[in-house]
Amino acid sequence: MTLAPESPVHDDRPLIGAAPPSPAGPIDDAEAASLPLPPMVDLPKTIQTLRFNQRQIDFVFGARRRLGEVFRMRGIIPGGPVITSHPDHVQSLFKAKPDLAPSLTAESPLRPIVGPNSTLTANGPRHLRQRKLLLPPFHGEAIEKYMDMIRDAAEHEIDRWPVGKEIELAPRMQAITLDVIMSGIFGIEGKPQRGTPEAALRRAIRGLVEVSTWKIAQLGELMNIGSDEPVGITKAGLEFLDRPTYAVIAQRRRAADVEERGDILSLLLQARTEDGEGLTDHELRDELLTLVLAGHETTANSLAWAWERLVRTPAAYDRLRDATRGGDAALSEKVVEQTITEAMRSRPVIPIIGRRVKVPWRLGDYAVPADTPVTMSILLIHHREDVYPDPFAFRPERWEGQKPGTYTWIPFGGGTRRCLGAALAMAEQRVVMEAMARRLDLVADRPEPETAIHRNVTMIPSRNARVKVVSRAA
Ligand code: HEM
Repeated sequence: MTLAPESPVHDDRPLIGAAPPSPAGPIDDAEAASLPLPPMVDLPKTIQTLRFNQRQIDFVFGARRRLGEVFRMRGIIPGGPVITSHPDHVQSLFKAKPDLAPSLTAESPLRPIVGPNSTLTANGPRHLRQRKLLLPPFHGEAIEKYMDMIRDAAEHEIDRWPVGKEIELAPRMQAITLDVIMSGIFGIEGKPQRGTPEAALRRAIRGLVEVSTWKIAQLGELMNIGSDEPVGITKAGLEFLDRPTYAVIAQRRRAADVEERGDILSLLLQARTEDGEGLTDHELRDELLTLVLAGHETTANSLAWAWERLVRTPAAYDRLRDATRGGDAALSEKVVEQTITEAMRSRPVIPIIGRRVKVPWRLGDYAVPADTPVTMSILLIHHREDVYPDPFAFRPERWEGQKPGTYTWIPFGGGTRRCLGAALAMAEQRVVMEAMARRLDLVADRPEPETAIHRNVTMIPSRNARVKVVSRAA
């Protein structure tokens, strides 16, 4: 597993997607009893929880070096979790019937925030119903209509960046992605007008995202794990957010043109169950908050990470700059795509996802009992040397002639829980990255890479991807 990159084994085969086979999937009690449990991380429970929450990169790489590609932790969530980094184990979980391996997002610290009723946090029939409802507006073709809007938002934002000064990219990316998602959900063009409930909601969301970087808020999130109702600072923050959300819903329920509008809120308002029942205000609120929260910070930080890497990797930056400025649209498109793919491999904004297996499950040489939370470390999977030679190097050209593997490149997860907004997130990243590469020359504020900090379930650059704008083309 941890062969040196220069090992001849790694030299001459097409590596992306290849890893030695490892049996995985549901097994019966007798087989489970014949296999050992994965090894346990040898640290006290509190230290594990804190390290995992604050320094997940060091923690998971350290544990994998010591214990191998499957290991067990104590204390983060009831029953574990077990962490794996083998693509065959990932495949077994992504392809499992949903009732055999329901998603752990139902237990995540997000649940008290977005509620138990959304596509993200529900399991079982409710999840399927909500997901089916939301798939069409997030489909590749449907998001074509946002492209001009994304382009305008990106160009407008870039026009305002001061030349010769240092700026933080993450909040600037967030301004773009929040407008895009709010436009999709509420059907507003550009920024919402002052005095409208949508404008108040936008302000509240920006405030909440800002507050969530505070250390105290991160501890508050830990307190929410396993609870159905928000507690502490999260509760206070949510009251601030709920008021404008319910105001937007009430206003839209009264609107005469709901049936003609194509936005997501109008679509949800018209949705009916088989018994003819519509969604309650509470259910609508959960879904709207999920889409806004899941949809904008992730995309913004993914772009921020891409630039954090680019300004520290001259070969990759030069390649991107040349491609976007050379007048060959097909080449530009290809290189932008490869750069985003590599950035999402190297710095996955959501570093871990999971399922709770409902029957005994084999994971290579080990087995876990029914009801174990099994997580997939996206970070570890994306840094397997046997799949990605020289995994710590940022090399977009590694994707030349290669497609991302379904079980080896998983920044959007997979199976029936694969990110609903993946097509939108990719479209936003393409447009924004292309405009930035074409129009701006950026340099790192300092040579050392930014470290990762963890906010809720996301991993973000510690200094918000700080860069200096050297020049800007009209
Ligand atoms: C770069 C940006 C993004 C990343 C890295 C990302 C990543 C993820 C991941 C890892 C999951 C869990 C998948 C699993 O457990 O298998 C997920 C789920 C989800 N994402 Fe995203 N996401 C991004 C953008 C978006 C956007 C733009 C939206 C939409 C507005 C969105 C909405 C959702 C929803 C609703 C789910 C739950 C899907 C389900 O459980 O059926 N995400 N995302």
